[in-house]
Order: sequence, then structure tokens, then C-alpha cells
Amino acid sequence: MKPTGIRAIKVLNSLARPTIAVRVKTSMCEGWGSAPSGTSKSSFEAVEFIQNADLSIELFNNYAKKLIDFNFQNFDDFEEVEKIINVGNAGGSAVIALEYAMLNALAQERKRPLWKVLNPNAKAFPRILANVVGGGQHATNSIDIQEILVAPKAKSISEAVFTASEIYHKIRFELAKKDKHFLSGRTAEGAWTTSLPDETALEIVDRIAGRHKSEIGIDMAATSLFVRGKYLWRNFSRQQKGIHADEKKHIELMEQISNRFHLFYIEDPLHQDSYKAFSDFNKASNKYSRKLVCGDDLISTNLSRLKVAVEQNSINAVIIKPNQIGSLFKAKQVLDYAKKKDIIPVLSHRSGETNDSILAQLAFGWQAPFVKFGLAGGERTAKLNELIKIEQNL
Ligand code: PGA
Ligand code: ZN
Repeated sequence: MKPTGIRAIKVLNSLARPTIAVRVKTSMCEGWGSAPSGTSKSSFEAVEFIQNADLSIELFNNYAKKLIDFNFQNFDDFEEVEKIINVGNAGGSAVIALEYAMLNALAQERKRPLWKVLNPNAKAFPRILANVVGGGQHATNSIDIQEILVAPKAKSISEAVFTASEIYHKIRFELAKKDKHFLSGRTAEGAWTTSLPDETALEIVDRIAGRHKSEIGIDMAATSLFVRGKYLWRNFSRQQKGIHADEKKHIELMEQISNRFHLFYIEDPLHQDSYKAFSDFNKASNKYSRKLVCGDDLISTNLSRLKVAVEQNSINAVIIKPNQIGSLFKAKQVLDYAKKKDIIPVLSHRSGETNDSILAQLAFGWQAPFVKFGLAGGERTAKLNELIKIEQNL
């Protein structure tokens, strides 16, 4: 595949904010890609824009001329592409949109699904982690936990998706009964919001998920709870409100909910700098049964941070978000290293998404054991429905 024309434009994401889409034209086809964006970002993430989307686009369109006629034949060629366009000269969003567009063009030219271009031997489908109730920075006046997630144990993607959707609607019904203030509000990722305490929300999800052969997990996104050295829980339970927990107390609360509500997956239980506390929590969580302790902000899809975490045994799972590092090439390196070290990679959407569905193709092509996508909203369903299509061989 050789680009004959490359152009970036400003488009809207699901948070009604600007993002970048790129079109790559070749003599045979055109491929599109667009970049997501986070709300609860870590401080280690790559810059999205050079100042703003407009300037990034201007800079990108200039550098992109150097990629005309670049001979792009496989994923590893991105190493060369990134010598020409990278986070430093165009911002991470432009790089990610470009790389998605190039892969889409390559797949079209090869007349194959993208996953097959990446890996013709892909077989296993990922398990889904679906966000059903949320709060934190993804909503106002909802729970402290950013995401309560369900992971159906299903024989197929389709069964997993529709099981999760059944759970999602049953939860809505329960919330409507129990929460006087419930307005069917949704978080940035389409999960229900509620004025009930965290414990009550967990109790509802645990009960309903349990009836549908599904496990439950949370993304604590604990950095966003961290205020002047303490974790602030506004509405932990009916009895306990406004807890300013030091690290020890916070870990106690996390262990309490983890055991009581049978969590099998806990993402970012602690602040983004806490390798050592993660390690203590990981050890304690895996003492009697296996639980996934996952690093999102802690790692920020950064290979050197992952290496430190592996060394300190801080986690046994890791979130992969290509735009956190502003390079699909580097994101893949993080995923590969994680697999090599028996750390479970979880390919994840962001709160600010577009209807780009490439994450589903990447997840299957890269054989990611888990994906974290939302359930509601076109930008979320685009990815789940793409997985269903892959499964149906369409
Ligand atoms: P985001 O958060 O808002 O940064 O995309 C999602 C997450 O923390 O997993
Ligand atoms: Zn997270």
C-alpha cells in the first residue's frame, strides 16, 4: 500500500469535543481513522495535540506530504512512519488516527479483514468487560467508583454482548426502584449513574450479574479520588459518608468491597504512582483466589512503567490504550511484553470515542484476552457490533 494523499480534519467525539480524523488515499481505496480521548487521564499520557486540534492538523498535514508513496506493507513499518510523524511533531491523536487509517487502507487493498492482515491465525475471542454503572470523573453526583463492569462467561461474543445488555437493563429497573433520584442518567461511557452509595450499587450489580453467569469488576480510577494525600470517598455506604482514607484505610475498604461483592477484576485500586501499594494489594488479593489487579493510569501504556510494575509484582493485568502513548507501534510492544510476562492485557476504549470500530479488529488480530468497551451509545456499539461481525465471519 502506498499513500497517494493523506489529510487530517477536525471531527467531533462522543464528549462533544474536537478530535482528529485522518483519510489515507491510495490508487485503489481510501482508509479512515480517528482518535479517542480520555477524561480521567493520568499525568504520564502522551500529549493529544500540539496546543490544540487545529494546530496539530496544520502541522500533521505538512509532515504527511513526506509519507506520500511510502511503501507500507506490514504493522512493523509504523516504526519508520513514526520517524516522520510522531507525538512530538503532531501530537498523539494525529498519529493514532493516521495509523488506524493506514491499517484500514492496507486491509482494503489486501481485500481481507484487518485482523487477518495482522494475524491470519487469530482464533480466540476476547472476553468483554462492559461498563454498567459508573461515576467518578465520568459523571456528576454519582458513585465514587468510576466503573462497575460485568464480564459474562459466555460461549460466544454474541452471547456475551446480549447477556451484558440484559444485565444492564435489569440494573436500570432496580435503580429505578431503589433510587428516588434516578433519572436514567448515563456516564460518559453510557453506564447508569445513581445517587445510591457505592456499596448499594455494587450489591445490585453483584446480585443481577450472579444470576446471569457473569463476573463483576471495577475501575476505581483511584487517582481521581486522591486529594492532598488521602482518598476521598464521598458516599461509600449508607453508614459511611465522607471518608478521608489514608492508604491503609483505603486498601481496607477496597479489600472489603472486593471480597464482599466477589470482584474478579480491580483496575487502578490506588494512585497512579503507587507501585509498592499496588504490589501489596496484588499480593493480598491473590492470596486465596485469582483476581485481576489491573494497571491503567499506573502504566499509561508505557513500556518502561510496565517493566517497573512487573519487577515489583504490582499488577497481573494491564490496560492498553494506544492513544495514552500516542503510538500504535509502542502500544503493541506493551501488549507483547505483557503477554510474555503473564500479565493479562485488556484492550480498552476511552470515555471520548468516535464510531471508529478498529479496536475490535485489533483485539481479535492481537488476540487480546479481554476488551473493555461500553454497551450503550453508537461509539460503544460500533466496537461490540464489529466483534459480532468478526465472529459471524462477515
Ligand atoms: P478515560 O477513562 O476517561 O481516561 O477514558 C477510562 C478509564 O479510566 O479506564
Ligand atoms: Zn481506568
